[in-house]
Amino acid sequence: MLENDIKKVSVSVEELALMNKRLGSQISKDYEGKCPMLVGLLKGCLPFMSDLFKNITIPCTIDYFKVSSYKGTQSTGVINVKGECPDVDAKDVIIVDDILDTGRTLKAVKELLIAHGAKSVKVCVLLDKPEGRKVGISADYVGGNVPNEFVVGYGLDYNDLYRNLPYVGVLKDEIYQK
Ligand code: IMP
Ligand code: MG
Repeated sequence: MLENDIKKVSVSVEELALMNKRLGSQISKDYEGKCPMLVGLLKGCLPFMSDLFKNITIPCTIDYFKVSSYKGTQSTGVINVKGECPDVDAKDVIIVDDILDTGRTLKAVKELLIAHGAKSVKVCVLLDKPEGRKVGISADYVGGNVPNEFVVGYGLDYNDLYRNLPYVGVLKDEIYQK
């Protein structure tokens, strides 16, 4: 059981539902009369993007972009763009990601989407780790803040595992020693 590897729950299922509701209604209000395009960063955005999407009450579209910068629990600092950039020309884009840490991923992706002709680009993250920031970027929509510790679940992974936990939590220390 995945659950046996968790030391502490950081964001519960109920808290996640409230975050999605709040973010969805804020986005619906801010983009009233427009049709924003949500661009999710794979693979971490998956559960968040699908729940957030259902809480948006105005017309919107979705697409995905595959990028990565992590190996284990450390940011490599090098952003790998692995997929094709979605067609964002003249679109009001909202980048959706699981967590904002050093900021390198979102800064690089934001610049790339602007270079690809996006009309506007905003950033929506489930979680923000403000203490981890290495480059100047902030998110326009944030579900909640977490301290500078490695979290998994609800899309967030450790070596590609634990994404399917329905909540966000901290792994037991022994998992890293394996
Ligand atoms: P940044 O470029 O350091 O801001 O990287 C953000 C990406 O790193 C996120 O999309 C996650 O994939 C990953 N990441 C950052 N912190 C964590 C964490 O605590 N758990 C799992 N993945 C994380
Ligand atoms: Mg990610």
